[in-house]
Amino acid sequence: MKVVIGADHGGYHLKNALVDYLLRMGYEVVDVGAYNSEPSDYPDFARAVAEKIITEDADRGVLICGSGVGASIAANKFKGVRAAVCHDTYSARQGVEDDNMNVLCLGARVIGEELAKDVVRAFLSATFKDLERYRKRLQKIKEFEEKWTESN
Ligand code: RB5
Repeated sequence: MKVVIGADHGGYHLKNALVDYLLRMGYEVVDVGAYNSEPSDYPDFARAVAEKIITEDADRGVLICGSGVGASIAANKFKGVRAAVCHDTYSARQGVEDDNMNVLCLGARVIGEELAKDVVRAFLSATFKDLERYRKRLQKIKEFEEKWTESN
């Protein structure tokens, strides 16, 4: 599985720790920055992660800012991205199984490194349960996207 990971300055250190962890776990990792801890803007990294997901250059994304909130708001503006902030393993797993979440957002000022690793592992090892009721709900969300966003 190929994982794209990005973070602003708030998530820079946690991102680097997670890149090492994911590589050790055998994942293919694309690190879209930030590459230093200078102040930066989380929408830029949300965009970089979202583009890799939309173009299918990566299977899953991990996006980190201070709280995870700004990153998730920005990432969800991209058609086809289903991002959520999860700081527990239950949500990270169930978000994939039921909601086909493809981008996990983390707040580096909220979660510690070891729990973040567990949450990422829960996210990446989960698969979407392709059930009719889940597909129906996702189709409704897709219709929101079709109706309310212009394609570019
Ligand atoms: C940056 O200071 C901070 O606002 C950002 O990382 C994030 O927490 C936004 O949601």
